[in-house]
Order: sequence, then structure tokens, then C-alpha cells
Amino acid sequence: MSILITGGTGFIGSHTVVELIGAGETCVIVDNFCNSKPVVLDRIEAITGVRPRFYEADLCDEAAMERIFEENPDLESCIHFAGLKAVGESVAKPLLYYQNNLISTLTLCRVMQKHDVKRIVFSSSATVYGDPISVPIPETAPRGLTTNPYGETKQMIERILTDLYRADTEWSVSILRYFNPVGAHPSGLIGEDPCGIPNNLFPYVTQVATGKRAFLQVFGDDYDTPDGTGVRDYIHVVDLAQAHLKALQRARKVTAVECFNVGTGTGYSVLDIVKAFEAATGRSVPYRIVERRAGDIAACYADPQKAENILGWRAQYSLDDMCRHADNWQTKNPNGYDT
Ligand code: NAD
Ligand code: WQD
Repeated sequence: MSILITGGTGFIGSHTVVELIGAGETCVIVDNFCNSKPVVLDRIEAITGVRPRFYEADLCDEAAMERIFEENPDLESCIHFAGLKAVGESVAKPLLYYQNNLISTLTLCRVMQKHDVKRIVFSSSATVYGDPISVPIPETAPRGLTTNPYGETKQMIERILTDLYRADTEWSVSILRYFNPVGAHPSGLIGEDPCGIPNNLFPYVTQVATGKRAFLQVFGDDYDTPDGTGVRDYIHVVDLAQAHLKALQRARKVTAVECFNVGTGTGYSVLDIVKAFEAATGRSVPYRIVERRAGDIAACYADPQKAENILGWRAQYSLDDMCRHADNWQTKNPNGYDT
């Protein structure tokens, strides 16, 4: 039996494929390389000794998706990572985000249904909670108002998958709400490869620490947090990958729609990250405090108890590991996969 991994050459998908192969699973990857590179497949093979079957296709292309299912009759489930994820870009190009993220998911589910594959693990996000009433955030917290089209696609897809289960209870839907995935595989062979100037804190900090960028801009120090800078729940991407394996094992046992927070439960501020990075690498991370970034919230971190109770999963890696592994990746691949 094999698992279809959509977006499997991306940041989180590639790490998950490595963990799945390590657990003896067989993966079939589909990706259109709109935000990843073919060399990732070589790197997965270098780490695992296995080259997963790969299809270059757009999930919105129903005929191509049909072909994948026809050629792989042993597919039994799907982990669905494929999607566009840049918050700012989604504000500028809402139609692109709704088109890509929604149509791809609808097409995927239609083809899965046709081939009687009714098990799906979906990449959702803590962004569905909006600005939380309180932290830590349990799964039962009200889903807030999203502030951008990207976040809205996650809300909508959660709803679509829930409705799919309600209409046909043979489906097993596992919705994983990631907090802030960071770090890289300890080998330094795979990691996050943002194109252009990174939007997210960790890749920006790693580029400052290695001298690629002069200083970090800290977006606001007047939030209602211990040091005034934004607090987030950073989760090592390998821990996150492991959560997918656990979710898949659970989905094989129950037919249900279930959602799980995937975070460590600990919040760190922007300045905590700067200090942790400096301590882990011995290099300095110069920074300047600037204006708040539009759309940011003060604090967001998970109550991850449900994932521990039901999936038997909890994060293992420390913040120091996240910093060291991110730095190892950046140092070994100064231009990402373009080296
Ligand atoms: P990524 O961009 O590295 O990976 C996504 C992959 O999907 C890319 O390889 C891209 O080429 C592919 N893709 C996009 N649209 C496609 C389509 N129509 N057909 C085929 N392939 C397509 O992103 P990531 O960080 O690995 O995120 C994976 C998933 O997790 C996304 O759904 C994202 O929204 C979600 N998520 C990410 C974060 C984060 O901070 N990285 C946080 C929460 C949720
Ligand atoms: C973290 C903290 C910033 C950059 C985003 C998406 C979210 C999810 C994860 C997909 C904040 C501060 C950042 C910088 C800074 N993605 N910061 N200087 O905004 O929590 O979440 O990625 O689902 O939907 O919104 O992550 O890494 O951008 O920011 O001071 O150059 O770092 O203000 O407090 P965020 P981030």
C-alpha cells in the first residue's frame, strides 16, 4: 500500500516523506514545482536510500490526477500539503490563492472518492484561530476571523473536508493545525528554501546570522507580551513530520473528522529567538526595532494536549535544536537548493 503526498517536494512535505520512508511506508509524490525544486528528490534519496515515485503535475489538472490514481492502484491514503502559503502574496493575489488552494483540494478529493481512497491528512494552520481570545489555544477555541485570503482558504478547506465526512462517514479526515514550523533535517540536506527575501522570522534570522542580510527588523516591541515582541510557538519540522505519521496511523483506525494542534505548547518572543540563535551558533544577529507588521498578533501558542492524548505525539526537539539545524541547513546551502 502507498500514500499519496501532495506538495511532497516542499518544505514540510519533504521532511514528512523522509520520516514516512524511515517508518517503512511507501510514498508517491505529486508536485508542480511552483514552490520547490526537483533536486529535493535527490536529497530525499540521499537521506533515506529510497527514491519515491514522483509525478510532476498540478493538482487542479483532473486528468493528471486520474492518471496517478490509475497507475497506483495501491494508494490507500493521502497527505495533502500542496498549496500556496505566502500571506502577503495572498492579499495581493486573492484569486490565485482561492483558485489554487481550493480547486486543487476539490479536484484531489473528487479523484480520491472515485478511487475509493477516503483517508486524508490535511495541512491546516493556527491562522484559523485568528487573534485568539487567550493562549494557549485548544482545538475547541473559536475559529477567529481570518485576516487574509490564505488563512481563509484554510478555513474553507477545513469546512469542505468536514462536510465530506458528514456526507459519507467512510472518510477519515485528520486536520493538523500547524503553529510555526522551523528548523531543518539534522543532515542539512533538506530545509526551507524561501525565494527572495524571507517573510518569516526563522529563515530571515538564519540569513542574518550567516551574513547574507545585514540585520533583522523586529516588527514592534510594544505588544502585550513579556518583552513587547511577538510570541509564537515554533515547532521543529521533523517533529511536525512525525505528527503526520501518527495522524496517518490514527486515520487507519478510525473514520472521523478530527483536528489537532501541532505545536510545542511553549511561546517564544522574537528577542528570545535572536538570543537562542546567537547562543546556538556563537554568531551575532544584529537587529533593529521597527514598526509593527500589519496583520500580526501579539501571542499565539498551542495547547498540544489533544495530540498527545489521542495521537501519542509530542514535540521532542528543543529551541536550541531548531536553531542549530536551521543554521546547519543555511550554512551548507547558502543559496538554498540553487547551490
Ligand atoms: P511549500 O511551499 O514548501 O510546499 C508546498 C508545495 O506544494 C510546493 O512544493 C509547491 O510546489 C506545491 N504546490 C502548490 N500548489 C500546487 C498545485 N496546485 N499542484 C501541485 N503542487 C502544488 O510549503 P510548506 O511550508 O511545506 O507548507 C506545506 C503546507 O502546510 C501548505 O499547505 C501550507 O499552507 C501549510 N502550512 C505551512 C506553514 C508554514 O509556516 N510553512 C504553516 C501552516 C500551514
Ligand atoms: C513570527 C514573529 C513577527 C519576520 C506566518 C503565517 C501563518 C503560518 C506561519 C502558514 C512575528 C516577527 C517576523 C521578521 C519579525 N503560515 N517577525 N521580523 O506571522 O507567526 O505566521 O507563518 O500557515 O499563517 O502568518 O510567522 O515567522 O512571519 O513571524 O519581527 O523579519 O516574528 O512579527 O511576531 P507568523 P513569522
